[in-house]
Amino acid sequence: MTADKYAPIGVFDSGLGGLTVVREIMKNMPNERLVYFGDTARVPYGTKSKSTIIRYSRQIINFLKTQNVKAIVVACNTASALALDTVENEIDIPIIGVVRPGTDMALKATKNKKIGVIATDSTIRSNLYQKLLTEGDEDVKVYAKACPLFVPLVEEGWTNDMVTEIVAQRYLYEVLNKKIDTLILGCTHYPLLSTLIGKVAGKRVQLVNPAYETAQALDRMLTELNLKNDSETEEEKKYQFFASDTAEKFNAFANLILPYDVKATKQIRIESYQETLNDK
Ligand code: DGL
Repeated sequence: MTADKYAPIGVFDSGLGGLTVVREIMKNMPNERLVYFGDTARVPYGTKSKSTIIRYSRQIINFLKTQNVKAIVVACNTASALALDTVENEIDIPIIGVVRPGTDMALKATKNKKIGVIATDSTIRSNLYQKLLTEGDEDVKVYAKACPLFVPLVEEGWTNDMVTEIVAQRYLYEVLNKKIDTLILGCTHYPLLSTLIGKVAGKRVQLVNPAYETAQALDRMLTELNLKNDSETEEEKKYQFFASDTAEKFNAFANLILPYDVKATKQIRIESYQETLNDK
């Protein structure tokens, strides 16, 4: 790969949620250009198998390569947990997921070594969060809980709603009973519930937002590789958005959470991209 620091960073997710990672990159790395792909036609990934998510991720990476990206961010926790370890060995573009930045921060934050993790079913079943945390510190106890209803509640816009609060109380009851002092929001949508989850969890629990931690880790990675964009780009050329389904819902959600006006999301046929990667 010819590394071009002015090239965009490719960011992908199963749908809309990865925009929480985009938001952090926009805020923390304002010079960087971004190409975002949301697999809105095939969402959710959180209930799917490892082999399916690897296949989808390979197609998306093949699409991002056509955009000449200098690095790739797997913004989806489920794809980071199930596909990253496979695809990172198949490409020669620097690639980073959201799981490790989240576990690194949680290990720094915890004092009583009791960490909670909430995520989709597939992420929890992959055991990656649990594995990285206990590998990082063998005294750490991890309490994991899948919270599948949070994704539709966020997409419904019920981020500050009584119904969501009751759901959160029910989901979090078990992990809070273990007296955790740190809770990883291990799904793209959950940072949008951080006020509500913070209220349910109480002040003694520190919330870790992998989207924010990933933007910080990305910054360090690009600095080390001498790939940081040090010049400003014109607004129109800076951010591009692609999705596998129609743009309407995507644009509405994007405009709710991004500090940028998303208008021209392009729909692409992601199934037409190759299901294999063969850079290496
Ligand atoms: N983006 C997914 C994640 O972070 C949540 C939505 C889905 O299930 O696809 O795990």
